[in-house]
Amino acid sequence: MTTESSQPDHDQPRHARPGANGADSPSGPHWPSGWPAGPLAAGQPDGHASSGGAGTGTATVAGPETSMIDYVGASSPHLGSGPLLGLEARNVSAWFGSNKVLDRVSLDMQPGRVTALIGPSGCGKSTFLRILNRMHEMVRGAALAGEVLLADEDIYHPSQRPADVRRRIGMVFQKPNPFPAMSIYDNVASGLKLAGIKVSNKDHVVETSLRRAGLWGEVQRRLRTPGGALSGGQQQRLCIARSLAISPSVLLMDEPCSALDPTSTRRIEETITELQNQVTIVIVTHNMQQAQRVSKYCAFFLAAEGTPGHIVESGPTEKVFDDPVDPRTADYVHGRFG
Ligand SMILES: Nc1ncnc2c1ncn2[C@@H]1O[C@H](COP(=O)(O)OP(=O)(O)O)[C@@H](O)[C@H]1O
Ligand SMILES: [Mg+2]
Repeated sequence: MTTESSQPDHDQPRHARPGANGADSPSGPHWPSGWPAGPLAAGQPDGHASSGGAGTGTATVAGPETSMIDYVGASSPHLGSGPLLGLEARNVSAWFGSNKVLDRVSLDMQPGRVTALIGPSGCGKSTFLRILNRMHEMVRGAALAGEVLLADEDIYHPSQRPADVRRRIGMVFQKPNPFPAMSIYDNVASGLKLAGIKVSNKDHVVETSLRRAGLWGEVQRRLRTPGGALSGGQQQRLCIARSLAISPSVLLMDEPCSALDPTSTRRIEETITELQNQVTIVIVTHNMQQAQRVSKYCAFFLAAEGTPGHIVESGPTEKVFDDPVDPRTADYVHGRFG
C-alpha cells in the first residue's frame, strides 16, 4: 500500500508539446473524418471519446507514417501477444494551459496484473491514461512533467517516436468506435494498416485477434458484414481485437463498459481476465464491482475542489476496498460520494 500526500509545488512542465511533433507533424497528411488524433494507439481511430473534459479531442490533426514496416514471417512479433511489459509512472503532472490537472502521480502498473483507476469524474484519470501512451500531447496547450517507463525505457525520451509508443501501448475508449460501414475483417485489419504494419498472413492475424478478444465464435461466419451491425458489446470487443492486431504490450481501457448493458459488460470483463496474462491492462472504471472483479491492483484518484488530481492511495484491490488507509478512499468505494 502506498499513499501520496500533497507536496510543495516545485515540478515544472518538462514536456510542453502544444500540438504534436516528429512523426505526428501537423503538416502531415490528414486522417479521414472521424480520425481526429493522428496515428493513435493500436490502430484506434478515436482520441476523443474517452473524456468528459472540456475540449478533449481538439488536438491538431496529424498524419500517419508513410513508411511501412514489414513484419512478414512466422517469427513476426505481430502474430500473437507482444512481450509482457510493465509500465511505471513517476511523478507525472499534467496541465491544460495554465490549469494543472494532475499532481505528481506515481504508479507501478505491473504486467500480468490488471490495474484499475478509480475516482470521481474530473480527477484526471483519462488525462493520466492519455499520458501513458503519448496522446495527451496531441491536445493543443497540453503539457506534462515526470516520467513514464515502459519496461525501464522512458517513453518520453527524445529518441522515442510517439507513433511507435502508441503501437506498443494501445487504447480502447468508452464508446465503441469501429468503422461502421467497414467489414468486421477490415476493421481488425485496419489496426495493422494504420500502424503501417504489413503482414503476409493477414487472415491469421485477424482470426487470432478476434479469438483473443473473445469474438471469433460469434463472427467467424460473417467476417465480411459491417462492423456497425454488431451489438454494442460486440463492437467493443471488435475494437479490442483491432487494438490487439498489432500486439501491443499494454492495453489502456478508459471506461470500456460504461456504454454497455450488464451482459456485454460481463463479457468484456471475461475478455479482460483472459487477456491479463498476455498484455498489461490498465482500466479506468466508475463501477466499483467491476474494479473488484477485474483488477488486482487499484489506484484511487481525487481532485479536491480547485486542486489538481492526485492518487490518494494505491494498493492491492482487496486492500483498497476492504481496508483502505485513507478515509476518503473508504467513503468513495462505499459510494458515499462521487
Ligand atoms: N482537452 C482538455 N482541455 C482542457 N481541459 C481538459 C481537457 N481534458 C480534460 N480537461 C480537464 O482536466 C481535468 C481532468 O479531466 P479528465 O482527465 O477527463 O478526468 P476524469 O477522466 O477523471 O473524469 C478536468 O478538470 C477536465 O475538465
Ligand atoms: Mg475520464
